Amino acid sequence: MRVILLGPAGSGKGTQADLIQKNYGFPKISTGDLLRKAVQEGTELGKKVHQEMKAGKLVADDIVLELVKERISAPDCRTGYVLDGFPRNLNQALLLEKIENHRLETVFEILITEEEILRRLSGRRVCLQCGAVYNINNNKPKVDGVCDICGSPLVIREDDKPEVIKERFRIYVETTKPLVEHYSRKKVLFQVDGQNSVEVIFKAIKSIIDRRISGAQGVSN
Ligand code: AP5
Repeated sequence: MRVILLGPAGSGKGTQADLIQKNYGFPKISTGDLLRKAVQEGTELGKKVHQEMKAGKLVADDIVLELVKERISAPDCRTGYVLDGFPRNLNQALLLEKIENHRLETVFEILITEEEILRRLSGRRVCLQCGAVYNINNNKPKVDGVCDICGSPLVIREDDKPEVIKERFRIYVETTKPLVEHYSRKKVLFQVDGQNSVEVIFKAIKSIIDRRISGAQGVSN
C-alpha cells in the first residue's frame, strides 16, 4: 500500500506518518526531512534548495522526484510506504504514477485552520538528525531540547517563522486543489479532521487503512 498524507504545514502529516510507520511498518518518506538533511550536510543538492525552503517556496519537481524515486526503490518499501509531503502538486502525482502504478493507494487530506497551524508551529521543535517532531506545549521531549530517540539537539525550523508559515499556507491552498480533485476522482481520497487530538486523528486514519487492507472498497468522502 502507498499511503499519501496531504495537508498544510503544521496539519500533523509528519506526526501521523510516524504513527503509521510504527503501527504498520511502512517506512515514512518525508521529502521535507530528506531536503533538510541535505541542507544541513551542505551537499550540492542542499545548497541548491536552501533558499527556496527558507522562503517557504516549493523545490523543483524533478529534484524531489529523484529523491522519492531512489527511496521507494529500497527493499524496505516493498510492502508499502507512507509519503509525507509528496506529492505536492498534480504534476508530482502524475510523475509518481508513471514510476509506480500498481499499488493500492490511500490518500488522506488533513483539514485544519490557519489559526491552529500558527499556534502549533510556534511550539514545534524538531530533530534534524532523525526527523522526530515535538511540541513545547503538548508533546515535550523527556529532557528539554534533546531528542528522546537519538539524543541530538532539538531546533526550531528556519521556515517556522510566522511570515514564512503564511506563505507556505498560501502555496498549499494554491497547488493542492487540483491534487485533491485528482485523488477524489480516483476514489482514494479520505478527509480527516486535523483539529482533533493526535490520537483521535490516528484512530480515524487507522480504521480506513485497516478497511482498505482487508479488501473493502474505498469510498471518497
Ligand atoms: P515539509 O517538511 O514537508 O513541511 P510542511 O508540508 O510545510 O509540513 P510540516 O512538516 O511543517 O508540518 P506537518 O504537517 O508534518 O506537521 P507536524 O507533524 O510536524 O516541507 C518543507 C519544505 O520542503 C517545503 O516548504 C518545500 O520548500 C520543500 N518540500 C518538501 N516536499 C516538497 C515537495 N514534494 N515538492 C517541493 N518542495 C518540497 O506537526 C506540527 C506541530 O504540531 C508539531 O509540533 C506536532 O507535535 C504538533 N501536532 C501535530 N499534530 C497535532 C495535533 N493533532 N494536535 C496538537 N498538536 C499537534
